[in-house]
Amino acid sequence: MEILGVDIGGSGLKGAVVDVLSGELRSTRLRIETPKPSTPERVAEAFTELVRSLGWTGPVGCGFPAIVRQGVAHSASNIDKSWMGRNIETLFSEATGQPVMALNDADAAGYAEMSFGKGKEQKGTVLLITIGSGIGTAMFVNGREVPNTEFGHLIMHNMIAEHYVSNSARKRLDLSWDKWGKRFNEYLIHLERLLSPDLFILGGGISKDYDSYSKYFKGATPVVPAKLLNNAGIVGAASYAYRYLQGEL
Ligand code: BGC
Repeated sequence: MEILGVDIGGSGLKGAVVDVLSGELRSTRLRIETPKPSTPERVAEAFTELVRSLGWTGPVGCGFPAIVRQGVAHSASNIDKSWMGRNIETLFSEATGQPVMALNDADAAGYAEMSFGKGKEQKGTVLLITIGSGIGTAMFVNGREVPNTEFGHLIMHNMIAEHYVSNSARKRLDLSWDKWGKRFNEYLIHLERLLSPDLFILGGGISKDYDSYSKYFKGATPVVPAKLLNNAGIVGAASYAYRYLQGEL
C-alpha cells in the first residue's frame, strides 16, 4: 500500500511516495523551498506543484509545523501568522483534487519512529524531539500518542525553549557543539523532571551530528538519535494517513 507523504517545514516542503507497511520510500524525494511569505495560498501552490511533480493521485498525508486539530492550524510559530484558524486539509484537498490528511509535523515524525525506528515496541513514555527551525515534540505512552504536545514552548531563561535550543538558535548564535550540547542537556533535564520519560529520541537534521554533542547529556533517561533522520516526517505523514483511512485513529 502506497501513500504520498509530505513534510512542510519552515525552509522546505519535502515529499515522497511511501510504502506504508515497510516505511520505505517508493519514489524520489522531492524538495521545494517554502515560499516567502509562507501564506496559505502560496504554500498550497507549492504543495500542489510537489504532488503534480511526483505524478501522484490518491491519499496524501501532510505534516505541518503547528498545532493541528481536525485539520485546522491552531498556532503559527514558524510559519506565516495568517495560517491561524485555516483548515489545512480543505485548502490542500481543494488545491490538489486529492484527499489530504494533516497533522503536526513532530507527531508525524513520531509515528514514523514508533512504527519503523527507535521507538518500535518501546513501552512506557517515549518523547521524540525534532530539532530544526523550531523544537517539535511527540509523546507516546505505551505506543499510543498524546497529540499536539508543544514542549518546545516551555519557558527556560525567560524565553521559549525553542529560542534557546533549536538548530536555528545554534546557528544564529554560532554556538559550538560544546555550548549547544550543554544547553540541550539543560532542556532534557527540565523535560525529565516534568515527564519522567523512559526514552528520548532526537530527530531533525541535527540528529546526524549526534556524536558531536551527546557527551554533554547528563540526565538519567536514555537518549538516542532517530533512525529515519530526514525522512521521518514524510514517512510518518503517510503512515498517519494510512492508519486514519483504516479507521485506527
Ligand atoms: C511549533 C510546533 C512544531 C515545531 C517544529 C514549533 O514552533 O510550535 O507545532 O511541531 O515548531 O516544526
